[in-house]
Amino acid sequence: MGQAHFNIVHVLALTRRSADMRKQFLIGIAGAATALVAFAVLSRPSGAQQNPAVGPAPLTKSDSSKLKGPKQPIFYRHDVHAGQLKIQCQYCHYTVAASSEPGIPTLNSCMGCHNLILGRTPENKAEIKKLATAWNKKEPVEWVRVHEVAKHAHFPHARHIKAMGPQACATCHGNLSRMPQVYKVNNVNNMGFCIGCHIERKITRDCSTCHY
Ligand code: HEC
Ligand code: HEC
Ligand code: HEC
Ligand code: HEC
Ligand code: HEC
Repeated sequence: MGQAHFNIVHVLALTRRSADMRKQFLIGIAGAATALVAFAVLSRPSGAQQNPAVGPAPLTKSDSSKLKGPKQPIFYRHDVHAGQLKIQCQYCHYTVAASSEPGIPTLNSCMGCHNLILGRTPENKAEIKKLATAWNKKEPVEWVRVHEVAKHAHFPHARHIKAMGPQACATCHGNLSRMPQVYKVNNVNNMGFCIGCHIERKITRDCSTCHY
């Protein structure tokens, strides 16, 4: 898996760097390679190295209204992509360590795989088809924002990732690699959430560092 995983990240990094002209071409190549790796991961016999009990449950779009968190326009699952397929958070949220906004990935991050991976079940096919439709129409997907602090407060993501490390996401967001749908584990709109940790780690509590 270590090797396979390296390949996913490496090949996908190529599509990111490519200029517009080369993009479609590389997406094709990278898609072929990543799709192969992804299929290999999915078709691996359970048992051996991976605990089959942690495999994501089969769920459909209609289940998503029963899950915690807001229903999204496309039923995209972190437990499948970050969990089962082990795609790094920063492959998709690639500005998290460099800017105050980690950003929601554009469809470029998806189509390298989904040009070829069309889904195995009718439900997955339907959801993945929405991606292709948006991609062809050049329309962004209107994801529903889950975490958002009020305008009067300022949260610099990059500062936190630099100080706490790239694996720190779970400290604030919970374990996304087990979540079929994103929900708020911590109430980021309660100042106590920020202050509690800042006291514990002896970080400034000066009003003007967060409010300006
Ligand atoms: C294959 C791409 C991809 C990967 C890998 C990925 N994400 Fe995401 N993430 C998305 C997309 C698309 C959304 C918006 C839709 C949604 O909320 O499910 C999102 C939404 C989120 C949100 C909610 C944003 C908000 O509105 O508040 C958080 C938090 C998040 N991701 C964290 C993570 C973490 C932590 C990891 C690694 C464990 C990770 N993501 C891996 C694509 C990805
Ligand atoms: C490394 C390859 C890869 C990347 C990158 C990727 N996916 Fe997937 N995705 C898969 C695989 C494999 C499946 C499982 C398909 C199946 O077996 O039906 C899947 C399944 C899905 C499904 C069906 C429901 C689910 O989540 O299992 C949706 C919707 C989806 N992907 C959306 C996205 C979106 C949106 C992005 C970009 C933010 C993305 N994918 C990026 C490989 C990828
Ligand atoms: C110290 C707590 C903390 C850590 C650690 C953290 N986040 Fe966040 N995250 C937040 C808060 C607070 C917000 C809301 C920020 C805002 O509204 O400006 C947020 C928002 C987000 C969003 C939605 C923002 C958008 O642009 O739509 C994503 C995606 C996200 N985080 C991903 C990640 C990832 C990936 C990691 C790990 C690399 C991570 N976060 C680490 C607290 C944290
Ligand atoms: C789990 C711990 C934790 C949580 C929760 C947390 N922070 Fe922080 N915060 C840190 C750490 C660690 C640093 C120090 C970063 C550094 O040294 O550069 C920091 C630094 C900061 C800074 C920069 C301070 C400076 O010296 O300029 C701001 C602004 C900030 N945090 C805002 C917030 C806000 C707003 C929230 C809540 C939405 C929040 N933080 C929640 C751990 C946390
Ligand atoms: C570490 C960051 C941080 C520091 C330091 C901080 N605040 Fe806040 N504050 C926040 C966040 C985050 C919110 C919630 C914003 C939201 O509603 O999304 C907030 C909310 C508030 C609110 C709105 C009412 C409420 O409780 O939600 C007031 C008033 C406020 N802060 C005053 C202050 C004052 C006065 C200080 C200095 C004594 C201070 N804050 C220090 C992050 C901070």
